Amino acid sequence: MEPVKLGVIGWGGRAQGLIRGVLAKGGSHLFEMTAVSDLFQKKLDLAHDEFGMAESALYLDYHGLLEDSNVEAVLVETGAQVMAAISCDALNAGKHVCVDVPMAFTRQEVWDLIVTVEKTGCAYCMGEQVRFANFVKKWKEHIGRGDIGEPLFIQGEYIHPSAAPYFVHKETGDPYPGTLEEAARDPNYRPTWRNKLTDPIKYIPHETSPLLKILDDRIARVSCYTCDKRMYGDAIAKQDLQCALMQTDEDRVVRIINSFTAPRKGNYAHHWYHIMGTDGVLESSRPLWGDDAFQRKEELLLDRDGNARHTTYGWAREEDNPFKDSTGGHAGLEAFVFQQFYDAIRGDGNNELDVYTMAEVVLPGIIAAESAAAGGVQIAVPSVRPSAERPKGSYPKS
Ligand SMILES: NC(=O)c1ccc[n+]([C@@H]2O[C@H](COP(=O)([O-])OP(=O)(O)OC[C@H]3O[C@@H](n4cnc5c(N)ncnc54)[C@H](O)[C@@H]3O)[C@@H](O)[C@H]2O)c1
Repeated sequence: MEPVKLGVIGWGGRAQGLIRGVLAKGGSHLFEMTAVSDLFQKKLDLAHDEFGMAESALYLDYHGLLEDSNVEAVLVETGAQVMAAISCDALNAGKHVCVDVPMAFTRQEVWDLIVTVEKTGCAYCMGEQVRFANFVKKWKEHIGRGDIGEPLFIQGEYIHPSAAPYFVHKETGDPYPGTLEEAARDPNYRPTWRNKLTDPIKYIPHETSPLLKILDDRIARVSCYTCDKRMYGDAIAKQDLQCALMQTDEDRVVRIINSFTAPRKGNYAHHWYHIMGTDGVLESSRPLWGDDAFQRKEELLLDRDGNARHTTYGWAREEDNPFKDSTGGHAGLEAFVFQQFYDAIRGDGNNELDVYTMAEVVLPGIIAAESAAAGGVQIAVPSVRPSAERPKGSYPKS
């Protein structure tokens, strides 16, 4: 079968890494990049130089790419705040959409996406990749066998103090070469989407997606707290750290912490996962405990017989990686995302990254930000699935 003709919107670090490291390598039989859009001509020139893209396939305005008949599907790799609107425009133009994490920034945008997917019938995926990690598969098996009893308390952390650009040049998109404080005063530079990610808890999918998959559960209620801002003053709008406390449909308690600025020193960056059951514990390791690679390779299993052992499930699954390549940025897990997207378009439509599953992963972060703004009040997470009260293609009544 012919590869899917793919247009990429947003030619930043992530898009370049995905095309260079995943789709142009193991995934070239599934997708062919036929067009690129970015706000900066300099970025389009990079796509032209590295991938030989024709001038006619490069767009400063993404609406032109959406009218291109040589584009069947779109990969949205812009900043978080504009992803949902671009995705809806693409779906309404009849293009299948794969959008990166976190897919939406507000509750309204989540509903816009759901309703637009339902109305257009186009394939839709949000590319959350950690849910395909080997430890997720193995922990789900442990829980299914009752190895730690009934899960009670679930924790996740995404701590990633980032050197990513917080200011870019208004004309070229180049990152500011000096300090943040200087950048904030330079009229030629503007804050990036990362700078304006005011609530780090909105970047929750890499924790909720694998954990809810393991538990086969849904977040039902959320409250969240924000630390008083102590870092970077007005130079970065993002809060230092947020902590959400949540309860699931199955009455389990979930605690998620996100920070993308702290701690400033020591290369302490990680995804971390923990599940305490009635009879045991599953826990991944954190940095500086020995192996300090970003993707933790060891876990703890305390089983129902009281035996503790270290497992080495890790992230990579070379043996069942669809592209047989775990060298990509996140242990090759993006291959699973692109295989899902391809199957959703050309295959049986079986898609665990569908708009409902992903909305259940994203909404708790958006609602956590609402809770934090209201001083930590508990807020219910609405059901996103179609029902008698909300038939397909309609918005919820309240
Ligand atoms: N799944 C993951 O592990 C993972 C990892 C990194 C980034 N991401 C996500 O990928 C996305 C991109 O991240 P990044 O690091 O490449 O950011 P980036 O800022 O480097 O790149 C974003 C690009 O989008 C372009 N852009 C913005 N608005 C546009 C528009 N209207 N039309 C066309 N282009 C537009 C910008 O000019 C920029 O080049 C983010 O949403 C981020 O959350 C996910």
